[in-house]
Amino acid sequence: MKVSSPGAAVEKVAGDGIKAWNSGGSHLLARRVMQLIMVLVGSAVLWMFLYSSASPFGSPTLLSHYFMDYSAKAEYDPKLKSVLRNASMKDNTVIITTLNDAWAEPGSIFDLFLESFRLGNQTKKFLKHLVVITWDQKAHTRCLALHKHCYHLETKGDNFTGEAFFMTADYLNMMWRRIEFLGSVLDMGYNFVFTDTDIMWLRDPFKRFYKDADFQIACDFFNGDSYNLDNYPNGGFNYVKSSSRTIRFYKFWFNSRSAYPKLHDQDVLNKIKKSAFISNMNLKIRFLSLIILAAFVSMQRTSTRSQQCMSIVVLV
Ligand SMILES: *[C@@H]1O[C@H](CO)[C@@H](O)[C@H](O)[C@H]1NC(C)=O
Ligand SMILES: *[C@@H]1O[C@H](CO)[C@@H](O)[C@H](O)[C@H]1NC(C)=O
Ligand SMILES: *[C@@H]1O[C@H](CO)[C@@H](O)[C@H](O)[C@H]1NC(C)=O
Repeated sequence: MKVSSPGAAVEKVAGDGIKAWNSGGSHLLARRVMQLIMVLVGSAVLWMFLYSSASPFGSPTLLSHYFMDYSAKAEYDPKLKSVLRNASMKDNTVIITTLNDAWAEPGSIFDLFLESFRLGNQTKKFLKHLVVITWDQKAHTRCLALHKHCYHLETKGDNFTGEAFFMTADYLNMMWRRIEFLGSVLDMGYNFVFTDTDIMWLRDPFKRFYKDADFQIACDFFNGDSYNLDNYPNGGFNYVKSSSRTIRFYKFWFNSRSAYPKLHDQDVLNKIKKSAFISNMNLKIRFLSLIILAAFVSMQRTSTRSQQCMSIVVLV
């Protein structure tokens, strides 16, 4: 299946559902969205399968020896400061995603991602607050061609250009570098919404975020209680407010990598979420009731990889 433009690809994903955002009445829209959900539910099973290797809920672990000197203030790249300042909302919030060459090619996920802001219901305004963190020069060039706020994150020794397959060493390094980076964004005084590039922004998530939480995160499995730490977090979408608590929490999370060298950030979070360190600091964690659905979209970016996994978040 040849998909030539991002617009066409969106239609491939959503059928007529997306068109209804522009033209239909609200009943028609609701029905179309329901149809879309039904179609995608099947694919979600496949997506869950991808995550089935994830460890079961771990027991709470006390990792007090991962305390560090939290008082030391790092020096940050003036370029990064400038990018964040330019993209920031009035309340110091930015929207952040990360991009490497594998997802940046024309007609690829990144185009769809940007398109979703334009197609969504009152989501276009968020584009001017979106900061795209690029892992390599090609992705950076592509970002600059399409978007205003791009920042190339230097990664010493690592090469994140190619597609980093789930749980390979490159994948793990990239995920952990991301956590470290997001921690520094908090340290610089910015709140952020982190969004994976394969999440389509069709609605305003700020209307659904909890007002009083420090750290709110999407789930792979939501058990109905947003406070319940047994929910299984999904690192692809979260909203974090900058405070001394969240800054310490991100350092703790990042430093916990060494205790679980084979796990990625999301599974480590799942291990440490009940730790005494976190409960003692009174970090307010909430889980978002998102239905995350996946669809395999035929993108035909290259001859070798014709399919990419895409998730669509529906706020319920
Ligand atoms: C867009 O969102 C507003 C409120 O958030 C809602 O009233 C309106 O019906 C939505 N429009 C569509 C086309 O769904
Ligand atoms: C931020 O905005 C200012 C003013 O528009 C501009 O001069 C500067 O180059 C921007 N910074 C970056 C990193 O794009
Ligand atoms: C990074 O890896 C890509 C292939 O994935 C390769 O083409 C490129 O030359 C590498 N870059 C560096 C700096 O090693």
